[in-house]
Formats: sequence, structure tokens, C-alpha cells
Amino acid sequence: MQTFAEELEALRAEGLYRSMRVIKGAQGSRVELDGKQVLMLCSNNYLGLADHPELRSAAVFGVAFGVGSGASRLVSGTMELHEKLEERIAAFKGTERALLFNSGYAANTGIVSALVGRGDAIFSDRLNHASIIDGALLSRADLHRYPHRDMAALERLLQDKGGNGRRLIVTDGVFSMDGDIAPLQDLVRLAKKYGALLMVDDAHGTGVLGPTGRGSGELLGVMDGIDIHMGTLGKGLGSFGAYAAASATICDYLVNKARSFIFSTSLPPAVLAASIAAIELVDSPEGKELREKLAANVALFKEKLAQAGFDTMGSETQIVPIFVGPADATMEFSKELLEQGIFVQGIRPPTVPSGSCRLRCTIMATHEAAELEEAAGIIAQVGQKLGVV
Ligand SMILES: Cc1ncc(COP(=O)(O)O)c(C=O)c1O
Repeated sequence: MQTFAEELEALRAEGLYRSMRVIKGAQGSRVELDGKQVLMLCSNNYLGLADHPELRSAAVFGVAFGVGSGASRLVSGTMELHEKLEERIAAFKGTERALLFNSGYAANTGIVSALVGRGDAIFSDRLNHASIIDGALLSRADLHRYPHRDMAALERLLQDKGGNGRRLIVTDGVFSMDGDIAPLQDLVRLAKKYGALLMVDDAHGTGVLGPTGRGSGELLGVMDGIDIHMGTLGKGLGSFGAYAAASATICDYLVNKARSFIFSTSLPPAVLAASIAAIELVDSPEGKELREKLAANVALFKEKLAQAGFDTMGSETQIVPIFVGPADATMEFSKELLEQGIFVQGIRPPTVPSGSCRLRCTIMATHEAAELEEAAGIIAQVGQKLGVV
């Protein structure tokens, strides 16, 4: 049996060792890292709301209700702000009800493992987020993974598998490491045809996609065809936590069955107040401007990368991967960029399949066009030097 230290050494040898970098100060489009100002190109704070003055003051207002919530929701940890935020999310998503979870990870593991169990079937895109897979494993339902966005393969599985139990199709709305969008119109059609529930994890679409920021479902015109809208409050919305927005019955069922909801202290007031402010902002003219600025930034950055000859792996959103391949070369690329003032992480297995390592660039509305052009120029130089292009 290998010791922990030996396993860590083996990870280092394979170029798969991971460690954390500490940011000094607030999250922004430029941050201080190891005493140096760098361009932030790997944050999910897409709209720049994480340090927005309105969210900050809402959090301060929230503290008037104390720091902690004191208990889980079903004991004594449901405060007026929980109810208010859930009502706001339900109105935002156009569903009967919404239910908060403490993180996207907790939401996915809780929702999936509550809705299906032994004898049921889950149909999951092969590139879905790890928290969906973990929820599927916890559920003990049969897990059928279909090739990425392959609707013909999904339909074959739906024809063959699932028996008489419940069926759940689950997909990322925006795929977190690829930046492409699920074929939601086809998924809605197949879910209806085969009597399956459809759950969409819109962690990376919420606040950002669609004319009013409702997410990938709004972008593709299928909001009403989605049974469970899962979304996070900690990415585009700049706060923390997550939710399921669905029918009153499904939410009531989750209150009674989702273990990550039941057995965990609820979100604290400052976070709740900041999340309400974030949704108000997304719904305001400023939110629209931020989305437009983000879209313009994404278009500019992708154009520059395409001119330099990079493969951005079919990205359709603000998540812009740069394909590299091997882990070592990816990490070298990231290290050299950091030396030149650009903070972008290399993504390796187990997050992505081996041989498909990439730099995962994420664009923010608060980036300046000039700094993105400059960054793309530096990425091109380093990419050429390392033989990536
Ligand atoms: C698609 C997807 N779902 C869920 C999560 C988990 O969300 P959270 O960071 O709020 O736990 C993430 C990100 O980490 C994600 O990318």
C-alpha cells in the first residue's frame, strides 16, 4: 500500500499535483498575487459582482440580522431573508418555488440523490460537473452517461434503459470546462417523449446568458420545459450558495428528502442579503449593460485567440478554454503566463479527461478591452514559444 506522501509524490511526477494560490485583497479583474498585480483570467465572477458596492452594502445590511443562522432550515435556521431570497429566485426563474442550498456542490448531490434512487435511472452528459456525478453515485440509481451532447446516443439509452422506475436527465447548461452549451431544445423534447424529468445545472449561465440573464434556458427559449433549474449564487451572481427552482411539489419533496438540505446549517444572513441584491442588479439596466460588455469582451478575446491559431474547443460562452493536451505543457504555459502578469489556471485530470488538458480562461464584464487584447498577445507569444500553436 502506498503512503499518502508517496501518492502525493506520484501526483507531482505526473504533473497532476495541485496547490492553492492566495489572493490579497478583494476579487476583481486585477488582483494581487504573490506581491504582484496580475490580470485575473480564471475567476467565475463573470459580471464583477463579487466586490460590487451594492452587494457589499447589502451584506452589511444582512449583518444586522446576525452573523450565523444558528441551525439547519428545518430546525430553527429559516429566517425571513431565506424566504425572501427564495421568493426572489422563483420570480427570477419563473417557477412556483425555489429552495436554497449551501453550495452548488451541495445542491447537486442533494437534488439528484433525492429525486432518484435504487431501480431508477439517471441519464447524464459525460462532461457534467463532478457534483452531478457524486449525486448520481449517492443516489444508487443506475447511471447512464451519454457522449457529450450526443442526442442520438441519449435517445438510444432512453429507449433501452430505465424500466419502470423514475428517469432523470441531467445536464450542465454551460459546460464548466468547455464553455459550450447543452442542446436544451432536444433535451426538453426527449424528456417529454420518454417521460423523464429534466434537470439543468446552470451554474455558469445564471445571470449571464439570455436577454435578461435567466440563463441557458432563456437563451434557448426553453425555460418552461426544464423541471429542475439548479443554479449557483457564487459565480455570475458574485455571492455564495445555490438553489433549485422548480414546482412547489418538487421543492417540498426536496425539503423532505434532500440530505444536503436537511442536515446542514443554513446560509448566513449577509450572504442572503447580498444574493438578493445580486439578482436585483442582474435585473436592472446595469445588469443588461454588464452582460453586453461581457459579450463584447468575449467576442474580442476569442477573435484574437483565433487569429493566433488557438483551439478554443467550441466555446460558446465566457468560458474560453485553450487546448494544450499534455498536463506538463499546460502547467508550463500557465506558469509562464503568470510570470508575465496573467493569472490563468491549467486544467488537468481528473477535472478533464487525460490528454485534453487546457488553460481555462474566463472573461469578466469588468475587463478592459485593451487588457484583454494585451493578454491575448502575450498568450500567443508564450503559446508559440511552447509549440502549442
Ligand atoms: C457546473 C457546475 N455545477 C456545480 C458547481 C458547484 O458549485 P459551487 O461552487 O457553488 O459548489 C460548479 C462549480 O464549482 C460547476 O461548475
